[in-house]
Amino acid sequence: MKILYFGAGFVGACSAVVNADSGHDVLVYDVNQELVNNLSSLDKDKIESSLMERGLGELIIKNQARIKFTFDLAEVEKFIDLAEAVFMCLPTPEKDNTGETNLIFYEIAAKTLGKILLKRNNNNQTQHVLLINKSTVPVNMINQTQKIMENIGVKNFGVGSNPEFLVEGQAIEGSDHPSRVVVGAWNEKDFAIFRNIYSRFVGSPTTDYIEVNPLEAAASKLLANYMLFSRLANCFDVVGRVCEKFDGLNFENIRKVLITDKRIGGWGLYDSLFAGGSCFIKDARSLFYQLKSQGVNTDIIDSILTANQRQLDSFLARAKEELNFDWKGKTVGILGLAFKQDTNDVRNSASLKVTEFLFDKNVAKINAFDPTAGNNYLKHFVSNKDSNKINLVDSEIKAISGVDVLIITTDWPQFRELTQLIKKNLPKGAIIMDGRRILQHKYEELAEAGYNIIAVGSPLIKVV
Ligand SMILES: NC(=O)c1ccc[n+]([C@@H]2O[C@H](COP(=O)([O-])OP(=O)(O)OC[C@H]3O[C@@H](n4cnc5c(N)ncnc54)[C@H](O)[C@@H]3O)[C@@H](O)[C@H]2O)c1
Repeated sequence: MKILYFGAGFVGACSAVVNADSGHDVLVYDVNQELVNNLSSLDKDKIESSLMERGLGELIIKNQARIKFTFDLAEVEKFIDLAEAVFMCLPTPEKDNTGETNLIFYEIAAKTLGKILLKRNNNNQTQHVLLINKSTVPVNMINQTQKIMENIGVKNFGVGSNPEFLVEGQAIEGSDHPSRVVVGAWNEKDFAIFRNIYSRFVGSPTTDYIEVNPLEAAASKLLANYMLFSRLANCFDVVGRVCEKFDGLNFENIRKVLITDKRIGGWGLYDSLFAGGSCFIKDARSLFYQLKSQGVNTDIIDSILTANQRQLDSFLARAKEELNFDWKGKTVGILGLAFKQDTNDVRNSASLKVTEFLFDKNVAKINAFDPTAGNNYLKHFVSNKDSNKINLVDSEIKAISGVDVLIITTDWPQFRELTQLIKKNLPKGAIIMDGRRILQHKYEELAEAGYNIIAVGSPLIKVV
């Protein structure tokens, strides 16, 4: 099959290359020339410097005969005649802190696509094409897609929804071996196109292939993210808080008891300073906005969003509250800038919010380290008046050496092994703020070595 993609970001690039690997011919169009050049470079490091996804570079190189990236619409026009499906993988950010989805990227792309579809097959539009929302969109977006196309005069098309459930950092593995594929269409003709695209998952014993209507597909994506987000926020704000406030409770022991109840299950029962990333907050706020617009009480969603923010605020406030620490003029090390391990994505990352807090407290200097996300983090602060306080360093040891406070913000597994480096290089009396409980197995040893430890899910652990 010939498949066109609009949008070569995390979702578009990963889905496209997995479809190429399934044997389809894929063209991926994106307006970002630098991204297109990197993805077209056939150089694994260049590809993954743009989109750090394990396996992405190798899979693009392996499938180079079947996948092409372009920013040239003339190529799209050439390709479109025989295309049977178009995946829309555009950004759908929040509009000005309202919760409403900003559909501008989507609408611009849809109009560009519509004009190209109009001209296909020598203006006869004989080839049926399925237009698929892969972006996370409001529940009824599919109807708008239909209208945009009809207003332009596009004919012989269907609209469908195929929400993306990828986990950043594991997107290739997740798309290659998904636990489920959800497709939404209005009729058998379009379901058949989906079955062709995903033929290797239809009837697979390891993948649930679920057919619903496009509205159900879009709604289930928003609801799935809300459920996951609420698990995390509940764990931070209730389970973690209980362990912080009552002496003698070990978070990991409590967790062990909870997760062995199959009804509770294990996912999301981790403590952390914040649930960031490009999706959870945005999607919960979008759901909040859509329900509010229907006059529905949204207290529960609101309290989940508030709990996540409260977690971050309460973690950062503890240095002052529990140790009477004054941040002004201090040097702080930040370990971890990506919103989670295995990605270079800093969208809604705790590190950005921690940095803004530190600017606000007038610290003197921030030594920031991440194995992959340093440049994206710096870009975020490029026009900030305090950006000169950031010293992006290229190793853990440089982030740790000589600082007054060390804040661990990302769960990179290698940080688990830092105890000896910390003991050698972090001045005695410094504070370790562990926002991921990544050093939990060493808290006693570190306290004995002369550090105060503030960790999510633990009461203050003072220098012994
Ligand atoms: N990143 C995730 O983990 C994830 C997971 C599931 C769903 N989603 C959803 O998928 C969608 C895309 O997310 P993403 O993370 O891939 O975003 P992204 O920002 O990484 O990628 C979007 C791409 O669209 C391109 N673009 C913008 N306007 C365009 C246009 N007019 N024509 C062609 N390309 C254009 C951008 O240049 C960018 O490369 C969003 O709705 C998001 O909520 C994301």
